[in-house]
Amino acid sequence: MEIPERLIDILEKANYVAVLTGAGVSAESGIKTFRDPDGLWAKFNPMELASIDGFMSNPQRVWEWYQYRREVVNKAQPNAGHYALVEFEKLFPQFTLITQNVDRLHQRAGSTNVIELHGNIIDNHCFNCKEPYYGETDLPEGQIPRCPKCGGLIRPSVVWFGEMLPPDAIQQAEEAAMDCDVFFSIGTSAEVYPAASLPYIAKRSGAVLVEVNPNPTSLSSFADFKISTTSAVGLPKIVEMLKKRKGLL
Ligand code: APR
Repeated sequence: MEIPERLIDILEKANYVAVLTGAGVSAESGIKTFRDPDGLWAKFNPMELASIDGFMSNPQRVWEWYQYRREVVNKAQPNAGHYALVEFEKLFPQFTLITQNVDRLHQRAGSTNVIELHGNIIDNHCFNCKEPYYGETDLPEGQIPRCPKCGGLIRPSVVWFGEMLPPDAIQQAEEAAMDCDVFFSIGTSAEVYPAASLPYIAKRSGAVLVEVNPNPTSLSSFADFKISTTSAVGLPKIVEMLKKRKGLL
């Protein structure tokens, strides 16, 4: 898979680069995506497991499913794509990393001030009074932690379908999309809004739009550059070519 020299020309001059990542970036860390043929939504029903109604109708099932996903995330390691994005942060005068992912692998790789649009799977809070929960989570089968403050059920601090995104996160992400010179959409099917609106906001605001994804998406025809490879292959290649161009390699 070749990286177009024209893209490197643009990146060499870019002042502000913004990136939106999705589950595809963590695929090479062994974390399943959602909509790929072998993805989570091929086996599980998102409305039962990643929605308020799902939690209210069967909190035990939802809690256990997130405990299972946390185990997978805790065993996973950042991959070359995550580390390449840490390099991106150093290569551009201004850089914003926006993620839909909840696994915190960007932070574990060393990315700083990551905008988490969909929360994260590590933290928990009370479903009732919203108080953050720092207590025990590894309870005997069939038990869900209770809020020490109000006795409410504890839930993971991810954004569920039908829930509002953290207002400051979506506002910062939209500002980045409007102000950046180059916007990368990496490892996302670009189907879930409002995250999926960001690449369009960027393009409408005059940014060069780059998609890194081995498969086509509804965004592909809008992208100025379509890098049809995995993030763990494509991103390190871009970093290497840009560093060479800048005399850093
Ligand atoms: N490198 C880059 N992209 C990849 C790779 C890879 N190694 N493997 C798969 N992909 C691409 C797929 O082609 C697909 O377009 O990653 C994308 C994953 O899409 P989804 O599974 O829909 O994940 P995502 O776009 O992050 O989903 C958005 O939906 O379920 C909700 O809240 C959840 O944040 C998630 C949101």
